[in-house]
Amino acid sequence: MKALFVIFGATGDLAKRKLFPALYQLEKKRELNENFAIVAVARKDYTQKEYILELEKAIVEFGNVAENRSEKQEIWKRFTERITYQVLDFNGEEGYESLSESLKRLDKDWDTHGNRLFYLAVGPDYFGKIAIKINKHHLYEKDRGWKRLMIEKPFGRDLITAKELNKELRKVFEEEEIFRIDHYLVKEMVENLLVLRGGNQLFEPTWNKEHIKEVQIISTEKEGIGRRAAYYDKAGALRDMVQNHLLQMLALTTMDLPDRLTSEGLRREKEKILNSLQPIESNRMKKQMVLGQYEGYTNEEDVEKNSTRETYVAVTAYLNHPRWEGVPFFLITGKGLDKKEAKIVLKYHLPVGECCLDHKEQDLPENRLTVNIQPLEGVVVEFNTKKPGTKDTILPVKMDFCQNCMAGINTPEAYEKLILDALDGDHASFTHWEEVKATWTYMDPLISWAEKNGDQVVIYSKGSEGPKKEEVNNEDSEDN
Ligand code: BG6
Repeated sequence: MKALFVIFGATGDLAKRKLFPALYQLEKKRELNENFAIVAVARKDYTQKEYILELEKAIVEFGNVAENRSEKQEIWKRFTERITYQVLDFNGEEGYESLSESLKRLDKDWDTHGNRLFYLAVGPDYFGKIAIKINKHHLYEKDRGWKRLMIEKPFGRDLITAKELNKELRKVFEEEEIFRIDHYLVKEMVENLLVLRGGNQLFEPTWNKEHIKEVQIISTEKEGIGRRAAYYDKAGALRDMVQNHLLQMLALTTMDLPDRLTSEGLRREKEKILNSLQPIESNRMKKQMVLGQYEGYTNEEDVEKNSTRETYVAVTAYLNHPRWEGVPFFLITGKGLDKKEAKIVLKYHLPVGECCLDHKEQDLPENRLTVNIQPLEGVVVEFNTKKPGTKDTILPVKMDFCQNCMAGINTPEAYEKLILDALDGDHASFTHWEEVKATWTYMDPLISWAEKNGDQVVIYSKGSEGPKKEEVNNEDSEDN
């Protein structure tokens, strides 16, 4: 796709660790159009040469650099020719004027037909401000080409601030021009959920409350918060992971499949399911939400000494939806845990009626379908068979499909897909405003309860599975 890709915050962590390594990879695979140029915008007073040197270090550290020397040089040459560094004070005015001039010039030089993709790799406080300046200083052309905006989370910190931010963005960009990133949506097995469901008569007909007893949606991490206290200590696991990644996975797992897998069809179904999330009443919070904090969290750099911010949360969610009434969805996430893992587990009801003469002697295990998202990608089906040589002794077995164990599978990095999709104008892997609105509407009461009830946060040891059952007080309560 012909375009100018304008990255605000081009010297920041995200740009160095994710965006430029992804762009480099696309260059290496020759997936960038020849009429595609990158404008790296940041506050730091680098010259073009200094910036390219910085970038080289970042790509060596975080990217997948070609091994062959001459190939490496050739890719690097092609790649850096596309890049222009531009110093800009995000709050000022002059920088934007000169950026506007540069964009006009580059548009001609690279023949990009007026197409502009803006990427805000900056702190959330700047999202709205920069959008306004993009408009004010004519960083796009009204009657030529398209303009699009890619934006990272957090999209607000509650419903009110999300609405405010959206209002600001919508002064400049139409909804179809906004690409809100949730990088979980481009994880291979999350994308695969739709094919797994829609492409298999084996699964979809039983994908409902009649057959499924409960669902777990899990994303755990070993690492603590690192040096992200400034953000994390104000956000917590509920905002950081549940409002976006976990609820998006829940939506893709539970929504009705649209007749056609268009991004519009997908969005409508996701929106319906997210709007069907059953609000949790304050007297049910203790029952439906476990909060935890890893030991030593308050000693992390820049964390408030008496912070009760949750680094672990387990929410039991229900849907007011005919397909899923009464089925609990356990949304579990945390930092400082025993493993880094993301998966979705569907547990089935036990079979009705007598399956086997003697099975009462032994428990009949339930069927399970596990979609492994990371680090392993794949699907595991657990079912019961007869133990060979016996009359009817049950033998639970597993069928394990490991996708990333297959030779030759080389999954593209999330940001490669995100950039290409936004350039193609494909919204399927991005979140629509209506989804964001629905998730904040559900999350706001949970977050404000958690913030008011710091005493409910259970301390767990680092490297453990999270709060121990016996330490959690989840009696029904009348308090709020
Ligand atoms: C980000 C969160 O959105 O997702 C981080 O802000 C978290 O706190 C990360 O570590 C997890 O992503 P992944 O892809 O490593 O599971």
